[in-house]
Amino acid sequence: MREFRPKYEVVGFNHAQLDLSNLEGVREELGATTFNVLVNAAAFTNVDACETERDRAFRINAEAPGVLAEICNEKDAKLIHFSTDYVFDGEKRAPYREEDQANPISAYGESKLAGENSVLAAGDGHLVVRVSWEFGPDRPSFVDAMIKRAQQDEKIDAISDKFSTPTYTHDIANMLPQFFDHGVAGGVLHFANAGKCTWQEYAQWALDCCRDAGISLKARTVGTLKLSDMTNWVARRPVYSVLSSAKYAQLTGTPPRTWREAVADYITRSYSKK
Ligand SMILES: NC(=O)c1ccc[n+]([C@@H]2O[C@H](COP(=O)([O-])OP(=O)(O)OC[C@H]3O[C@@H](n4cnc5c(N)ncnc54)[C@H](OP(=O)(O)O)[C@@H]3O)[C@@H](O)[C@H]2O)c1
Repeated sequence: MREFRPKYEVVGFNHAQLDLSNLEGVREELGATTFNVLVNAAAFTNVDACETERDRAFRINAEAPGVLAEICNEKDAKLIHFSTDYVFDGEKRAPYREEDQANPISAYGESKLAGENSVLAAGDGHLVVRVSWEFGPDRPSFVDAMIKRAQQDEKIDAISDKFSTPTYTHDIANMLPQFFDHGVAGGVLHFANAGKCTWQEYAQWALDCCRDAGISLKARTVGTLKLSDMTNWVARRPVYSVLSSAKYAQLTGTPPRTWREAVADYITRSYSKK
């Protein structure tokens, strides 16, 4: 909303104002609102909880997006709905493209894929944007947790055998208006910062950026953990879920910047001032 407000008239709804598990309430509230574009970044994202709360996962991540798309149809508006790299099984070893077969291995991934399908079935003009490993201001993510731990502990570890790409929410928000027009790109689109890494490499880069920015940390290096060490995880996660942004680059003529540049930028903007 911060990115769009200078240029667009924007109304936002938080969880308390619009509960996606109350579909009747959603119909009433949005039915009474006028808009040209609806962006849905809300979801039930606790991957482990989705395994035990499947009904809730499917209601919020699958049914609700379908209802949002129907409401958009009634208003001749466009829905931009966020989805995830977790729709893939992670068996591939090259970046996943939009046309690759989705094959989720968790209830979260299944519910998100069902959400994509209900949005796309409602109309050609709606856009599903799959993103991966988001980070950015306002909502602490993995990178913030790692920096916090490195401020407190001399030794920190992260998983070194799981691959995807960190993606800056600022970059997502910046690229999105290119797709606000109804006629522009419906269907599925991947958007991730460029490159790939493990969580260990991601955390190490964040610490290196902090050091360059003069932010004092107790830990200097990030040790390695294996996926098999995560015995408390309930859901399976894809080992490799790098998204190819080639279609995005071809549509817009501007490939996303690298994840290293994006993380460095985030740390400069959000940590250097503190
Ligand atoms: N984070 C990632 O790395 C990642 C990776 C790939 C794809 N994605 C996708 O990107 C989108 C945004 O993810 P995120 O990481 O920003 O998720 P998040 O941090 O978990 O935020 C989700 C938001 O949805 C809200 N929400 C949850 N249940 C709701 C409900 N029943 N009704 C209305 N709002 C509800 C949450 O509110 P409360 O906090 O108040 O419950 C929160 O504001 C999702 O579609 C997700 O699947 C995220």
